[in-house]
Amino acid sequence: MGETMPHDKTNESHPHPPPLITFTGVQKTYDGEHLVVKDLNLTIRQGEFVTLLGPSGSGKTTCLMMLAGFEVPTSGDIFLRDQRLNSVPPHKRNFGMVFQNYALFPHMTVEENIRYPLKTRRMPAAEADRKVAHILDMIQLRDFARRRPTQLSGGQQQRVALARSLVFEPQLVLMDEPLGALDKQLREQMQLEIKHLHERLGLTVVFVTHDQSEALTMSDRVAVFNDGVIQQIDSPSNLYEHPANAFVAQFIGENNTLAGRIQSVEGRHCRVSFGDGFSTGALIGTGLAVGDATRLSIRPERVKLNGSAQGLPNRLQARIREFIYLGDHLRVRCELAGNDEFMARVPVDDFESSMQPGDVIELGWRDEDVRALDAS
Ligand SMILES: Nc1ncnc2c1ncn2[C@@H]1O[C@H](COP(=O)(O)OP(=O)(O)O)[C@@H](O)[C@H]1O
Ligand SMILES: [Mg+2]
Repeated sequence: MGETMPHDKTNESHPHPPPLITFTGVQKTYDGEHLVVKDLNLTIRQGEFVTLLGPSGSGKTTCLMMLAGFEVPTSGDIFLRDQRLNSVPPHKRNFGMVFQNYALFPHMTVEENIRYPLKTRRMPAAEADRKVAHILDMIQLRDFARRRPTQLSGGQQQRVALARSLVFEPQLVLMDEPLGALDKQLREQMQLEIKHLHERLGLTVVFVTHDQSEALTMSDRVAVFNDGVIQQIDSPSNLYEHPANAFVAQFIGENNTLAGRIQSVEGRHCRVSFGDGFSTGALIGTGLAVGDATRLSIRPERVKLNGSAQGLPNRLQARIREFIYLGDHLRVRCELAGNDEFMARVPVDDFESSMQPGDVIELGWRDEDVRALDAS
């Protein structure tokens, strides 16, 4: 691969690349009544991998379709650098696109499929030959160039779709659940392939998924959608460690919740009572004060058991309901303060094999491992 794509990363040290895409106050309704996207403000920087993550129906695809130009915002603007995009037709935006149903042309070979966008752009044949050969190498399908899509596996077809979206060196690539039809192993392999392509070519990618682990694996930043509103846009680690609200805490990763009330506040810390006579320290979420109802959020891997709980500031009694063996770790389902689904996650090596379902044990955690979030 001697050839360099013109959008190779040339300035990796640049701390803040310029904005490529900006949504300002974008709203969308299909029926004139119900807003499926509400006041969307979002900046995507050049070279960024941004994922729109959320449950089905939360407005992700609608946002991507507006960016692609297949849907028009009801109000608000979308900019490509300084250019207002609202009235630019899709084919003039020069974006690459990959969707779940790859929609390869069945009567064309792999090579012809990939060449198609260059043909419609009237690229001279010799140059097109070079680009197609280059990208066939990149997706490691050179030996399959003359096959038709039906003669390929699902993963290979998806790689061809990817190649077809990248071959014309688009300034932006849009992907809507592109891996949804693949089995787990292939999906995880393709996640890494796409991520590596993004890094190697310096692509700007807007990716849509409802799969939180996919979003965390691939993205520089993730915008968590619910009901047409971005709940939080942040790096994967910040979403996990510092969820802005109970929805994000619940949607990203595994999470225990307990309903409680805030008893006292001191700086970032608060004391929360819950259940029948239980209380714990926690970090307080924004907008909460003494007397407020709250939802406590605790990650299963932060919950320590018995011996490992010693010396921790919050220690509570719980009853073991069930062990779930997962190879490298155990999930211990407990009953705590009326919550029968309280999970602890214990590395297999730390497990005290004398524990039995029905035993009363001690759970422990640090204040910093608990968030007191909005109760809604
Ligand atoms: N073309 C359409 N016409 C009418 N309603 C639509 C259309 N596309 C999507 N919707 C509605 O808009 C909402 C958001 O849908 P969508 O953007 O597809 O969400 P997501 O991709 O997050 O699943 C849903 O309630 C959906 O039913
Ligand atoms: Mg969708």
